[in-house]
Amino acid sequence: MLSQTFLPDLLKGKTAFVAGASSGINLQCARRYAEAGARVFIISRSEDKIAAAAQQLRGDGLDVTGMACDVRDAARLKEALSACRDAYGPIDIVLSGAAGNFIAPALGMSANAFKTVVDIDLLGTFNVFHGCYEYLNEGGASLVAITAGQAVRPMMYQIHACAAKAGVNQVIKCLAMEWGPKNIRVNGISPGPIGDTEGMIRLAPNEQAVEASKKRIPLRDWGTKDDIGDACLWLASDAARYVSGAIINVDGGSELGDASGDAFGMKGD
Ligand code: COA
Repeated sequence: MLSQTFLPDLLKGKTAFVAGASSGINLQCARRYAEAGARVFIISRSEDKIAAAAQQLRGDGLDVTGMACDVRDAARLKEALSACRDAYGPIDIVLSGAAGNFIAPALGMSANAFKTVVDIDLLGTFNVFHGCYEYLNEGGASLVAITAGQAVRPMMYQIHACAAKAGVNQVIKCLAMEWGPKNIRVNGISPGPIGDTEGMIRLAPNEQAVEASKKRIPLRDWGTKDDIGDACLWLASDAARYVSGAIINVDGGSELGDASGDAFGMKGD
């Protein structure tokens, strides 16, 4: 984790907008931005959950407010972005992290099931970025989308998320090209297995599954929400001023493939 003494002024005076921030990775990113001095506006579709998250962060002395907003609803997003700008000024940092997922074979999902995940992940990311443009700081901004390994690696029972996240990667790259001349940087973070998240609790529900998962990862461990928060913090800061159009894996090397050595009957250590 980045040093707390380094953090307080890194994003001082900046405004951040975080979508999908009522829990998990995105909530931790919102916390990191606020700990680094940013004023942070958070949204998620559940009124109760977003109110609780904002209250929790404010209770820790952080400047955070939020409102309920589903990223599939472009008109409501405009209201949220406008409220953010009115409360905190032009937006410098945008994190698009709202996602929906479930494990199901292709034949076990309806067209609406497929569409639901594409709408949340892909259309939602488009809506957040497309909608935020007019509220951004004219001097420049950092936009980050949370993508996933499914974007580049096909995965069983994940046809909806694979298709959606592949699209998210292209949204990131297209906007990095179109908006670079305005000094708007657009990047993606692709988290590997991150502990203490809803996704990993479902994917590895017992100790045996956890150990098997860790054994396949080159760094032999799951990441933490702070690992993603720190990467997002770096991308939001001037330290990443020349980084745009990048998809950054924060995954312990998972993207490289199975590092267990099992395929060769070896222990991999
Ligand atoms: N297998 C197959 N189809 C499923 C499914 C599953 N496990 N879960 C949902 N669906 C289908 C529904 O049946 C519905 O299709 P239908 O209308 O043809 O019956 C469609 O997906 C939409 O489901 P619904 O629950 O109405 O949508 P929603 O917008 O309320 O929620 C999710 C969608 C993805 C968010 C929901 O499945 C969910 O809550 N997932 C767990 C939380 C989560 O995704 N967290 C993020 C982790 S990255």
